Amino acid sequence: MVEANNTTVTLQVHRFTPRPERAERARGGSPFARKSSPFGGGSDNAARRRPRGKQWVQEYTIPARPEDTVLDCLLTIKRTVDPTLAFRYSCGHGMCGSDAVAINGTPTLLCTASIRDWAKQPGAIAQVDDEGFRHIGTDEDADTGEEASSADANSLGVIELAPLPGFPPQRDLIADIDPMLNQIRKLTPYLQADGVLATTAEGKVNAFEYLQHPEQLAKYETLSNCIACGVCEGSCPVFAGGDAFIGPAALIWSSRFINDSRDTKAMERMDAIDTADGVAACQSVRACSRHCPRGIDVGEEMWQIVAKVRER
Ligand code: SF4
Ligand code: FES
Repeated sequence: MVEANNTTVTLQVHRFTPRPERAERARGGSPFARKSSPFGGGSDNAARRRPRGKQWVQEYTIPARPEDTVLDCLLTIKRTVDPTLAFRYSCGHGMCGSDAVAINGTPTLLCTASIRDWAKQPGAIAQVDDEGFRHIGTDEDADTGEEASSADANSLGVIELAPLPGFPPQRDLIADIDPMLNQIRKLTPYLQADGVLATTAEGKVNAFEYLQHPEQLAKYETLSNCIACGVCEGSCPVFAGGDAFIGPAALIWSSRFINDSRDTKAMERMDAIDTADGVAACQSVRACSRHCPRGIDVGEEMWQIVAKVRER
C-alpha cells in the first residue's frame, strides 16, 4: 500500500480501448465466450492479432516511495485517481505470472518491479506525441522545460508502462496471452507416466507410486518453476504471436517433461517440437534469458533442448 509521503513518481501508461467486434456480434457470439483458461479451447484468429481501437498515453503522478512496486502504484491509481485503468494481477509476489507488462520497454512483472529500480529521470524515457510518434527527451528539452511536468525535486522519476510485447493488447496493460497458452497446451503439459503399483503389508492396493532419485529430479526441477508469465515470449524477436515460432515458454514446458525420468513420452514430445515452427525456428538470440522472473536461463535451456532433439 502506498502511503502519503513527499516523493512522487510519474507513470506514463500506454492505454488501449478496443473497438467493438462487429463481426463476432453479428454471428451472435459473445465477447465473453473466449476461452482463456490454459486448459480450455480457444483459437488464434487473425482478427484478434490486429486489434483495432483507441490508443493513447496517459500520465499519472502520484505519491510513492522508492521501495514501492509498480503494482502498488497502479493499485493506488485504480483506487484513488482513475478506476478505468485496466491491468491484471493476482498473487502480488511473483508467483502467478499474470501481471507481465513492458516496463520502460522491458518485459517484466509489475509486482516485482520497484520504483527504485525502474524510475528514470524525464528525458531518458521516450515521449509519445499526439500523433503517436515516440521522441526521446534530451538535455536540451530539460533546459527548456519540455520534459514531463513531474520533474521537480521530489520526483523519483518516470516509468513507462505498455502491454506485454508480442501479444495482442486487450485493454490498457492487459495483453491476450492465449497464443502462448495454446502453444503450451498443444504440447501436452502434464506427466504421462506408468506408475508402480504399491501394496500394503496385507497385499491390498495402496497407491501408484512415481519414484525418482534426487539427481533425476534435479534435471527438470528448475524448469518446473515456469509460471507461464510470457516475459520470455515478449522478449523474443521471433515469437511475435506464435505463428512462426511456438515460443520459448512452450519449449520450456516440453523440456520440463522430456527431462522428467517418470515421463514415458519423451520421443513423442521431441517429435512434436522437431518442426519448422519448433526448435528449428529458434534463432538463439537469447533475449528470452534476460528477465525470467523464476530464474530460468531460458536461452541455455533452448540450446539444450535443440541439441537433445537433434541427437535423438
Ligand atoms: S520461462 Fe520464465 S519468463 Fe518464460 S514463461 Fe516461464 S517463468 Fe515466464
Ligand atoms: S501478481 Fe502474480 S506474479 Fe505478479
